[in-house]
Amino acid sequence: MNIKGIILAGGTGSRLMPLTKVTNKHLLAVGTKPMIYYPVEKLVSAGIDEILVVTGVDHMGHVVNLLGSGKDYNCRFTYKVQDQAGGIAQALALGENFANDGGVAVILGDNIFKSSLKPYLAKFDTQQTGARVLLKKVAHPQRFGVAEIKDDKVLKIVEKPKRPKTNYAVTGIYFYDNTVFEKIRKLKPSGRGELEITDVNNAYINSHQLKYDFLDGWWTDAGTFESLSTANELVLKDPPK
Ligand code: DAU
Repeated sequence: MNIKGIILAGGTGSRLMPLTKVTNKHLLAVGTKPMIYYPVEKLVSAGIDEILVVTGVDHMGHVVNLLGSGKDYNCRFTYKVQDQAGGIAQALALGENFANDGGVAVILGDNIFKSSLKPYLAKFDTQQTGARVLLKKVAHPQRFGVAEIKDDKVLKIVEKPKRPKTNYAVTGIYFYDNTVFEKIRKLKPSGRGELEITDVNNAYINSHQLKYDFLDGWWTDAGTFESLSTANELVLKDPPK
């Protein structure tokens, strides 16, 4: 399968106000670099050098100023504007032409993690069709999409459950075949008015096409003050591969 990379770096960053009042969350510092460098480096080191970056209209200029054509990062960037923060799946839908019938490796721009993507990408590649998500055991699953698992199958994913049935967070690293775009077209906005990536993953579960791995090494998001501070500590103490 031809697989391209997509980094979703839109959204409002409201949980980090006032840090995000005049800039984009993904341009904030994590360790010694802007946050968005981490997903770029993960994709490039896994061998993906065609990368789409999606962000909002307010900060696209800054993101392009920072990343440019990609020549400094050994990749080629394409950019798409998400007019309003209508959800992760809405941002992903903007990648349909870019994907050009192939598959996509998607990283949420505020997800920072230790491991290389290579082994997971290789497994997805052998799959040929469907989707693959990466799970991580966490202390506070309420903040995430939470997976219910039986044997080697994900039965269901619940977005930010008040009473999670497991501790397995669905990380913001997703591999999809090209049917993802058709699935997004069928989605309805959730209670919070967004097209949810969890609904996309549940659509794959319903067609028996969602596989998973447990992600090795540390993982965190960086979208809250607490997790941003955790991300800073982790990258300095134990830098990503
Ligand atoms: O971090 C993993 C979690 O990310 C998953 O476990 C959840 O299932 C998933 O819904 C997501 O949860 P969050 O509520 O933390 O997502 P957030 O709204 O912070 O968005 C995460 C990234 O997605 C953000 O850094 C930029 C991108 N994004 C988000 C929205 C809402 C967009 O590009 N456009 C958007 O409209």
